Amino acid sequence: MVVQREHSYDCFQEICSLVASFTPKISSIFTPIIIIITAFLSVSYATTQYRKRSGKNNLETPPNGVSLFDETPKDRSPGVWNPSSFRWPKPAPFADWSIETTKPLPYRPFKYGPKYFVTMGIRNTNYDEWIEMDNEFPRFYREKAVRISERGQKCCRTLPEAFPAAVELLEELVEYLPSRYPSLYERVDKGIKNLWSGEVIDNTSQPLPEDPMQSVGRLTQDDMAILIERPDGDYYLLAGAILLAGFWRLEDKLGMPLWEIHTSAGVPHYREKLEKSMYKFFRRLKAEDFVTRNNYTLQIDDNLPWSVSVGDEDSNDLGWHHAEQDPPIGKHHLRSERQSLRRLPKSGAIVFGIHTYFSPITELAKEDYVPGRLASAIRSWDETISSYKGTYTYEKVLLKYLDEKHREQIQRGLKLEEEDQRRRYPW
Ligand code: HEM
Repeated sequence: MVVQREHSYDCFQEICSLVASFTPKISSIFTPIIIIITAFLSVSYATTQYRKRSGKNNLETPPNGVSLFDETPKDRSPGVWNPSSFRWPKPAPFADWSIETTKPLPYRPFKYGPKYFVTMGIRNTNYDEWIEMDNEFPRFYREKAVRISERGQKCCRTLPEAFPAAVELLEELVEYLPSRYPSLYERVDKGIKNLWSGEVIDNTSQPLPEDPMQSVGRLTQDDMAILIERPDGDYYLLAGAILLAGFWRLEDKLGMPLWEIHTSAGVPHYREKLEKSMYKFFRRLKAEDFVTRNNYTLQIDDNLPWSVSVGDEDSNDLGWHHAEQDPPIGKHHLRSERQSLRRLPKSGAIVFGIHTYFSPITELAKEDYVPGRLASAIRSWDETISSYKGTYTYEKVLLKYLDEKHREQIQRGLKLEEEDQRRRYPW
């Protein structure tokens, strides 16, 4: 504002002296026009200066060339968050939840072809369902504990800028888990106790006994990432407990903005189909919102934390070219993530949760409709998606198997026209 006023005043003085040198008649015709033009030029100049200083120009020329600036909510500037007083209500206990008998949810989030649509695919979800847990918790817990002790900061890390957000996330989990899963978690003075493992996660000592994201990682089956909006309006991955991601490493992506996380991995159709809506969604996400989405891919080994088929986790050369050609069907697995997104009320950071559901194809194919639908979905992938998902290494074996199982289901009388009544996306 100050810049704008000073500049207008200088210009105005120059124009006045110019005008004074004209005759009174000419002056009376041209003065208003000159004043209007001057005012317009002054305002444009001041606006440009303000945008340069505030960094807002960065948003007008994002890497995809689409203007994302307009999507910033009008009530706050990029990178500024006024802590919200909103708190999620306490979740209801998960009815009859048991670490022995509650099975993983059977997400089957693939759709029939012939066309595969790349979309955000987010759905509003009840707060109570923030964290899903099942009888695979012990396996996940053990795998994560090994990863934390063997790989440490490569998997769990909080950059200083994200520390308050990581502590807030830990607090939120300490509040949520004992209410939702009372047979697994109990509040204790220091924080929270896992009644199955006996472990206490301390979120009260100063300083904390470990990186808060490490504690976050131990508490649930999810991997979790924290993204923070900076004044340039972009979202940066600044903390994570990424322990079972299968195909990507926190160390490669930490510090990156959202677009680069995706483009550096060559996520198919990201620029044209996803980027604009993702940024719009991220900017508008409120502390009151909670959404989930599901994805799926194929993995041809049974290693949950890291898919060894695409190379050694510490190698610089990763990719499907390492994978065995036409592996036997016993090695094929469906890897499906239930991803969740919410904004923390105090810090304004965004929390991205990833719960991986991992099943052998030979088990999945026993379910009604699943082999036929999965085969159709895989056939609907275009070249870009197929090469990203490594289809060429396993499709011959996989499609033959799925087609056979589908035929068997039809032969025993499965009615395809009844599928919509029996299953609805993402099941
Ligand atoms: C609405 C939000 C988001 C959408 C629509 C989205 C979409 C996608 C899609 C389509 C892929 C390709 C794999 C697949 O089919 O799922 C992908 C991969 C990925 N996304 Fe996202 N994503 C979102 C949010 C995030 C966030 C918040 C992170 C932060 C960590 C993230 C990190 C990644 C990573 C690391 C990969 C894997 C890249 C690789 O293959 O190495 N995504 N995402």
